[in-house]
Amino acid sequence: MTRTKTVYFCRECGTESLRWEGKCPTCGEWNSLVEAPDLGAVHRRSRPGQGAGAAVPESLALIEPQPGARLRTRFGEVDRVLGGGLVPGSLLLLGGVPGIGKSTLLLQLVARLQQAGRSVLYVSGEESREQVSMRAERLGEAAREVTFLPTTRVGDILHVAEQVQPQVLCVDSIQAIWSDRLSSSAGGVAQVRECASLLQAYAKAAGVAAFFVGHVTKGGLLAGPRTLEHLVDVVLHFEGQRSAEHRLLRGSKNRFGSVDELAAFRMTDRGLQPLDDTSALFLSDRPEGVSGSALAVPMHGTRPLVAEVQALSAHARFSSPQRITTGLQPRRLAILLAVLERRAGLSLGDTDVFVSVVGGLRLTDPAADLAVIAALASAGRDLPLPEGTAFVGEVGLGGELRGVAHAEARTRTAARAGMSTIILPAVMKSGLRSLPGTAFVGHVREVVEMLEAP
Ligand code: TYD
Ligand code: MG
Repeated sequence: MTRTKTVYFCRECGTESLRWEGKCPTCGEWNSLVEAPDLGAVHRRSRPGQGAGAAVPESLALIEPQPGARLRTRFGEVDRVLGGGLVPGSLLLLGGVPGIGKSTLLLQLVARLQQAGRSVLYVSGEESREQVSMRAERLGEAAREVTFLPTTRVGDILHVAEQVQPQVLCVDSIQAIWSDRLSSSAGGVAQVRECASLLQAYAKAAGVAAFFVGHVTKGGLLAGPRTLEHLVDVVLHFEGQRSAEHRLLRGSKNRFGSVDELAAFRMTDRGLQPLDDTSALFLSDRPEGVSGSALAVPMHGTRPLVAEVQALSAHARFSSPQRITTGLQPRRLAILLAVLERRAGLSLGDTDVFVSVVGGLRLTDPAADLAVIAALASAGRDLPLPEGTAFVGEVGLGGELRGVAHAEARTRTAARAGMSTIILPAVMKSGLRSLPGTAFVGHVREVVEMLEAP
């Protein structure tokens, strides 16, 4: 038997090191280096004898790309987040806090796939057969038909998968699975890394799409090594929303699609139901008549959402005022503050400025600029914006408003979310005038003036 050498690697960033150090040389985290056998060395050593001559170079031009090979999950919302379905041979990590509904989502997903004639294997290392069967009963007939394997051993999974030959494999959770090649306990960094790489090798070779469920710790990171995030092709997060029964699925990494897409569900007593109307998902309990709050309609992937931007300006305690943002790039805030000062005569230069996007959304769509400007102006003057109004437009350095894409879809979404008016760039007026509820401004100055009107 080959003896494995020990290496160390950082639990936070995955950096490998040949010796233990108190502080990770890459990310600077203290006490994050943990011991693990150097599996790479085993693979390297075993290479010359076994695989020699097996690897042949190929011309990329001769390899057929297979765009049509994606597997539709029959869960439209999930397909959208995945970028059009599951890619065979890909690895997906589904993270979320315990109890949020990860097992429910996956069981529903594989049930639908199996119903559509796909071969699936659902492995649970955490729950007893009875617990999983109870869940399946709640979810209905299709879930009861799912091929299920209760085990915590990676060897069992590989063995059974050889027989079942699933197209989709779910491992719930990767932290519960262990390999007897290592003596450490399940859930530890070394075990998670070892099991994930064994399953990865299998999934790639067999063309299986494999889901790993991963628990999220309080800090929000996936428990166990960040290396897991590097290893997989897609990282999905399942999260709660402010209203108790709502759930959001979003990607933070996707080798096969965008990470902007969001899927929303409602947890019912018979599993997760996709939400048809997500327009107002981020709008609950918004106080009326308060300054510093403006509504944006950013695109998230292919879908517009109404989002609330809040701004606060306060007397600065230090000579250089603070600019703190959540959900907005600090550089974008700096530019918009400068535009507001130079083009609309409203200076927040000597105050601390805080901007936050409600509900954990990240504003990457430039069309949200106008809402940020409106929130800043409202905070600066301490006057509320008109009720039921959404602001959409990209702001140029001259203070002028530029046109945005998907203006019609945004307008319809704003109306569905209960907005009476959507303010759009004046340059788009000729095409959109006939849409109900639209109003147009050409320059940020006009938004500031809106605050001064009686
Ligand atoms: P679960 O999928 O077990 O969460 P996770 O795998 O992320 O830990 O879901 C747990 C919660 O969902 C639990 O509180 C019960 C609830 N639930 C429902 O409300 N309806 C259902 O149909 C199911 C199956 C679960
Ligand atoms: Mg679970």
